[in-house]
Amino acid sequence: MNQELWTAVDDYINSIAIAPDAVLEAASAAAAAAQLPPISVTPAHGKLLHLMARAQGARRILEIGTLAGYSTIWLARAVPPAGRVITLEANAMHADIARANIERAGLADRVEIRLGNALETLPQLAGETQPPFDFIFVDADRTNLAEYFDWAVRLSRPGSVIIVDNVVRKGGVIDASSDDPNVKGVRRFNDRLTSDTRVSATMVQTVSAKGYDGFAMALVL
Ligand code: SAH
Ligand code: DHB
Ligand code: MG
Repeated sequence: MNQELWTAVDDYINSIAIAPDAVLEAASAAAAAAQLPPISVTPAHGKLLHLMARAQGARRILEIGTLAGYSTIWLARAVPPAGRVITLEANAMHADIARANIERAGLADRVEIRLGNALETLPQLAGETQPPFDFIFVDADRTNLAEYFDWAVRLSRPGSVIIVDNVVRKGGVIDASSDDPNVKGVRRFNDRLTSDTRVSATMVQTVSAKGYDGFAMALVL
């Protein structure tokens, strides 16, 4: 483990690949001022999500876990003006900060924040007659990951892409006897993922300013 190096390289990547961005910096500053946990995606990871969504031509995006709306802004910038991002958040304070950040970003017209436990808002969404989502980013608690993923597949269409954050947990994911509820939640999800014939999936390990973790990518078949 060499966190110092990972952070230095992340700073370097930011300096060459991410243009200075007052809107995103203001969103991060607002999150820090409100003492929200520093667990937003990194700039490089945010831009990766943005590029993946754009490359796919996504018009409708679903996010589970808004926090301050940092990843939401990256995603909302990937859809056309008539596109839509629905983001699910359980914590009202987080949702308020995200709303302000998204308004400041000029993206309020295409982003809808749904307040509530995703285990409740996901079935609600499924009960509405809405077109499927093209791209889904799952980044809430890990304990219910398997359920979130199942809803994500049900709310998508063949060709949709689902990205699931934080599936490596400093390598904890390989510990079958772990008591950590996050690791247990990720492992329960992984077990399902490999047997889920609705998708083709892989996982990628990452190091960054946020440490050692990884994400899963699934293509809905
Ligand atoms: N995607 C954000 C970070 C999300 S952090 C970004 O990268 O900028 C995880 C968020 O999920 C937190 O705001 C937390 O309140 C929310 N969350 C946790 N459990 C949840 C649940 N059951 N339903 C909805 N949101 C939940
Ligand atoms: C945590 C959550 C995240 O979504 C993340 O990207 C990193 C860490 C956490 O809860 O520790
Ligand atoms: Mg995350």
